[in-house]
Amino acid sequence: MQLGAPSFAALFGSKPAILAPMEDVTDAVFRRVCRSLGAELCVTEFVNVEGLLRGCKKARKKMQLAPDDRPTAIQIYGADPERLAEAAHVAEAAEPAFVDVNCGCWVPKIARRGAGSGWLRDPEAMVAMAAMVVRSVSLPVTVKTRLGLGHEAEMPIVDLARRLEDVGVRALTIHCRTAQARHEGPVDWSFAARAQRAVSMPVIVNGDIRSAADAARALDETGCAGVMIGRRAIEHPWIFREVRARLDRGVELPPPSVDERLALCKAHFAANVAARGEPFGVRCTRRHVTGYLHGLRGASHLRQRLFLCDSLAGCSDILDEAAARLAA
Ligand SMILES: Cc1cc2nc3c(=O)[nH]c(=O)nc-3n(C[C@H](O)[C@H](O)[C@H](O)COP(=O)(O)O)c2cc1C
Repeated sequence: MQLGAPSFAALFGSKPAILAPMEDVTDAVFRRVCRSLGAELCVTEFVNVEGLLRGCKKARKKMQLAPDDRPTAIQIYGADPERLAEAAHVAEAAEPAFVDVNCGCWVPKIARRGAGSGWLRDPEAMVAMAAMVVRSVSLPVTVKTRLGLGHEAEMPIVDLARRLEDVGVRALTIHCRTAQARHEGPVDWSFAARAQRAVSMPVIVNGDIRSAADAARALDETGCAGVMIGRRAIEHPWIFREVRARLDRGVELPPPSVDERLALCKAHFAANVAARGEPFGVRCTRRHVTGYLHGLRGASHLRQRLFLCDSLAGCSDILDEAAARLAA
């Protein structure tokens, strides 16, 4: 563990709002954005254990955690228990807050191979895999999964929570949909409530938390130890400070100002270009821009201009012009 790093229990002391692992989104740059706005804990995008163990540069890079990028957990995925255990051991060297095993990804090319939500086809095997990963590292190991595959007569998640805790898993994140539901249809947080009642480890409720009020309601209804936020953070990372203000002080924060929205846009473009160069650093920021500019006068025209520009200097000029126009 890093010197001065909070203990595992302390990570959940304040009912944290956690930035969800999201492939091609939750990189170091975006983790910094969310942390600066109140995300207390972040999880890396998932890292393929086969790539990692082959020494693939992209997989290794996903695991690098700078001193100002903590506490962050590293998430790994794979279909082979021994390879997952080996990869967890490699991940441990980066000194993450903990190692999370993805047992929830629905994407067919991953789940069909038995990784991600493929583990839900055989809960027994999932538990044995988790036990092996737990034994392979001294860091806490956690699991992120779903309610079940979707065709079971009874969702396996509550029983799974108990069995995972029994083999030493330290926390469980539940995306409260089935794998079959992908990201569509209603979430059912009541399973997170039942799972949290069944175990003493922290259970983190995830799925469709889109506002501070949603976060408060999810915690209230489930008694869970924290909330995890994914898609809403992509467009509105301010949600983290809004959640904290609501939970800690019962305060509803005003939405971010025009200046703040434009400044974050500019800073995010700059940070991504510093990390990746042009034009990729500019292009990969675009997925955030529509949300960041939401509600601004002339937002749609501004977005169109930004989407046609591949250079950081160009985007900065467009945003400066917009700031001047909106201030006039
Ligand atoms: C673009 C994208 C990428 C994702 N990648 C991952 C991933 O790498 N690992 C993981 O456990 N979940 C991943 N997820 C699922 C999210 O972590 C989260 O469980 C899901 O989006 C539901 O939460 P939300 O309603 O707050 O978005 C991803 C979701 C999205 C939208």
